[in-house]
Amino acid sequence: MINDIDQIIKEMQDFASDRSEEFKLKFLSKKGKIQELFDEFRNVRPEEKKELGQRLNALKNMAQARFAELQAKEQQFFTASKIEDMTRDVATDSIGSIHPLTLVRREICDIFSRIGFTVAEGPEIEDDWHLFSALNFPPEHPARDMQDTFFVEKDVALRTHTSSVQIRCLEKESVPVRKIFPGRVFRNEAISARAHCMFHQVEGLYVDKNVSFKDLKQVLLYFAEEMFGPDTKIRLRPSYFPFTEPSAEMDVTCSICGGKGCNICKNSGWVEILGCGMVDPNVLKNCNIDPSIYSGYAFGMGIERISMLKYNTNDIRLYFDNDVRFLSQFKNA
Ligand code: PHE
Repeated sequence: MINDIDQIIKEMQDFASDRSEEFKLKFLSKKGKIQELFDEFRNVRPEEKKELGQRLNALKNMAQARFAELQAKEQQFFTASKIEDMTRDVATDSIGSIHPLTLVRREICDIFSRIGFTVAEGPEIEDDWHLFSALNFPPEHPARDMQDTFFVEKDVALRTHTSSVQIRCLEKESVPVRKIFPGRVFRNEAISARAHCMFHQVEGLYVDKNVSFKDLKQVLLYFAEEMFGPDTKIRLRPSYFPFTEPSAEMDVTCSICGGKGCNICKNSGWVEILGCGMVDPNVLKNCNIDPSIYSGYAFGMGIERISMLKYNTNDIRLYFDNDVRFLSQFKNA
């Protein structure tokens, strides 16, 4: 029995866990090692009882002291880490909010789906054909230059616009098509309050028989009124894109000053929000669609630009910093 006592003392010294409950279970509980010895004590010869009894009691005191020590340590840990009440409810106001770009993307998709557009997506890494050649870009166009575009390897780049999804869609689907393509795009730009090396666009494409510029204008007016309010006006200015002819850029009346003039619209009362035009016949031909039978329109808008106007934010970098002080402002948006 003396050997057993020494053995338990050694085990208590070597006990590796910091958890007081584990210690108690092993040594001090009703089925623990010390109780086992007390049970055996009943069978000990009377002349040995005195010495063994003293030793056993000393062992028990030692175990209890160690147990108290472990408990005190645990208590200290909980106080130090301020976990005062582990049964306390989880704070309910710490759930996140939806990113403003997601909010605006969803709203754009909703507006267009109400008039028959469906949503599709394409890859962010594109080949030269879908990004430039099929879209009627001439070989020497500056967008093909490393200065403007991030190339992954020769003839493969991070897409610079979502117009590449127009080609993917026309190649695989039969006309008529009426779709929008939201997605992320990349340009080799210096980062500033107004420009970033990545941003988001929503592309629109409608190809059918007898599609005219008038249809395009009507759909864009509907979009502007839904997005910025019923008093919003639009204005189309002639422009140029290799893949549309004729091409235009669209301005809306500044939703921040209501068209009166402020620093967002540079006192003009108008803000540009998208590029658009009639799909160039060469683009249709590149996708094996006969331009003498079909025509179409396309448009592309920046989600950040629209979000900045809608929520009156003045720095595009805020959209990528993931600062909760910015993001949490969109909780109830
Ligand atoms: N892809 C053009 C851009 O990124 C926008 C655009 C889309 C223009 C479709 C015309 C038609 O600026």
